[in-house]
Amino acid sequence: MKPVIALTKGRLENQFLDFFKSLGFEIKPLIDKGRKLRVETDQFQFIFAKGVDVTTYVQYGIADLGIVGGDILAEFEPDVYDLFPLPFGQCRMAVAKEKGKEWPDGKKTIASKFTNTTKKFFKEKGESVDIIKLEGSVELAPILNLADGIVDIVETGTTLKENGLVVDEEFLHFSARLIANRSALKIKREQLRPIINVLNQKEEY
Ligand code: PRP
Repeated sequence: MKPVIALTKGRLENQFLDFFKSLGFEIKPLIDKGRKLRVETDQFQFIFAKGVDVTTYVQYGIADLGIVGGDILAEFEPDVYDLFPLPFGQCRMAVAKEKGKEWPDGKKTIASKFTNTTKKFFKEKGESVDIIKLEGSVELAPILNLADGIVDIVETGTTLKENGLVVDEEFLHFSARLIANRSALKIKREQLRPIINVLNQKEEY
């Protein structure tokens, strides 16, 4: 059986493919996949899922390895082995609000997809806030007066800028990470070691 790699769909997927290609791997079947969510190359099986679901497939051993944002690991703390950072997917977690608008005098309302991260951040500051969970397009919340601000990942800053928001405070930096199923790492060690070593640009595993 070929090793199974779960890949986060979207932006990380494209950056991973560039990286994977630069390492000399075949990526044509991955580029030509259309809407297929499972693709085989000559050496691997790939599955494509949302970030948090990548961690679930890896945790349950359906996938041996996963490519996921560090933001997802920080937010959900899945029971997977977090191997090492990958050289793409750099972003930061930030509090943002409408440009030129002050925070309210009382308790702030913060909208976020990352409610655990938000809770932890404000708790460490000793500040009590109300948190509203959203699933995406979080930048809408302050514009539409659902919240005073947001906590979200910022990569290029374009989404904030184009929606009239500015960073108030940055507090975590992330990149993509390689994760592994804990038992696969032991049981399939010999099979997984070559790919893990190639993906690790810094040191031997
Ligand atoms: C993420 C994030 C921001 C945006 C930041 O959203 O939540 O909205 O990317 O990127 P930028 O700084 O390069 O503009 P994503 O594209 O994953 O979509 P979503 O809002 O539906 O979650």
